[in-house]
Amino acid sequence: MGWLFLKVLLVGVSFSGCLYPLVDFCFSGETRGQKPNFVIILADDMGWGDLGANWAETKDTVNLDKMAAEGMRFVDFHAAASTCSPSRASLLTGRLGLRHGVTHNFAVTSVGGLPLNETTLAEVLQQAGYVTAMIGKWHLGHHGSYHPNFRGFDYYFGIPYSHDMGCTDTPGYNHPPCLACPRGDRPLRNLERDCYNDVALPLYENLNIVEQPVNLSSLAQKYAEKATQFIQHASASGRPFLLYVGLAHMHVPLSRTQLSADAQAQGPYGAGLREMDSLVGQIKGKVDHTAKENTFLWFTGDNGPWAQKCELAGSVGPFTGSWQSHQGGSPAKQTTWEGGHRVPALAYWPGRVPINVTSTALLSVLDIFPTVVALAGASLPRDRHFDGLDASEVLFGGSKTGHRVSGGGAVTPQQWGSRRVRGPSDYPPGALQGLLHHWWSQSL
Ligand SMILES: *[C@@H]1O[C@H](CO)[C@@H](O)[C@H](O)[C@H]1NC(C)=O
Ligand SMILES: *[C@@H]1O[C@H](CO)[C@@H](O)[C@H](O)[C@H]1NC(C)=O
Ligand SMILES: *[C@@H]1O[C@H](CO)[C@@H](O)[C@H](O)[C@H]1NC(C)=O
Repeated sequence: MGWLFLKVLLVGVSFSGCLYPLVDFCFSGETRGQKPNFVIILADDMGWGDLGANWAETKDTVNLDKMAAEGMRFVDFHAAASTCSPSRASLLTGRLGLRHGVTHNFAVTSVGGLPLNETTLAEVLQQAGYVTAMIGKWHLGHHGSYHPNFRGFDYYFGIPYSHDMGCTDTPGYNHPPCLACPRGDRPLRNLERDCYNDVALPLYENLNIVEQPVNLSSLAQKYAEKATQFIQHASASGRPFLLYVGLAHMHVPLSRTQLSADAQAQGPYGAGLREMDSLVGQIKGKVDHTAKENTFLWFTGDNGPWAQKCELAGSVGPFTGSWQSHQGGSPAKQTTWEGGHRVPALAYWPGRVPINVTSTALLSVLDIFPTVVALAGASLPRDRHFDGLDASEVLFGGSKTGHRVSGGGAVTPQQWGSRRVRGPSDYPPGALQGLLHHWWSQSL
């Protein structure tokens, strides 16, 4: 435990507000390397149909649609799980939940996190000389050595779990609506079983809580500022960088930021989608101004829309899972139906990834780890199995083949509606119930 104490102490000292001077101090002597920078932006609960480039009914994503036209759009790209923590654990480890052990969401009271013997993408890149940052929702354990600063990230700014897992001053749109944090010394009340009202949502900068409760109305803007500052400072340091942004959007509660008349017509979801699109646009704009030719930007989602939230949930596009919805269930987040894990995905790297290409290659969030590690000239840890593949051939070599599938072959859009995908009734009674009950009993 001695080393851990030292590490806490060091990180505590180095990151109490002076990350950037530290980076400059340590590395200003190095010349700019050839290694590419990576920006990975992960949306939360975004539906496949929430990307205008995927689904013409959606008109709220002008920046993302532009990114699709300037890069590669994947239409058969999948999250590694249909809920938050498992999906994020797989993004950062390149491994499925059955291997890394994170098969359920972490709670506010969780004392564990992503197992410490897992190696994160950030740790591999740190070893390869990268400066690394995570901005946004972590949700892989927040106590002690599970904190992002001990999982490979030099800099962290964000919330430890979903923003509905603590009270705030302005609760935002949710079903059911949750109470604001109690003021003064009024007693805590938790009338709604589905709302976490006990611990005010904290905002961290490295190991320090810098705001509690979080002001949801200004969170997106703070993320944009911290992300652009990091890109600026990391570029100036001469070292390659990894920036991983876990957006609060499109998870409920949706923020009540001052809606323009135009946005009001869209309702809270459309307005939130625009806010997210603008945030991504600001990060991409910074990349374009600072490190355009040498930065690979990925955009994708952690799982499908949270259908139980009705009009506060996103669109699954054509993946409506009609069989399942006719039984009264959700075909999206928290399920193994396609709407639960088929997510929007874009790759943008001017001069490297071809522009305005739609790829039907079957790929997944699991492929990000091996692809990024290969591009960084690093090597994968040898003592474990990885579930993804290096997608370089698809990204740069014109290949249309990602993961190979056996059996029925590709499904055309015309077949989407008619194909009967395996549903819960195909499993023995009760097999999925325990799992689903567990998911549904948590408000994640
Ligand atoms: C981490 O430890 C667990 C429990 O001992 C083990 O099952 C797992 O395989 C280990 N993972 C790695 C990557 O070594
Ligand atoms: C929250 O942020 C909004 C937008 O920046 C601001 O107008 C408001 O005053 C902030 N609320 C508090 C309690 O600081
Ligand atoms: C992108 O490709 C589509 C279809 O191939 C074409 O209609 C569109 O004009 C292209 N857009 C740009 C910006 O090149």
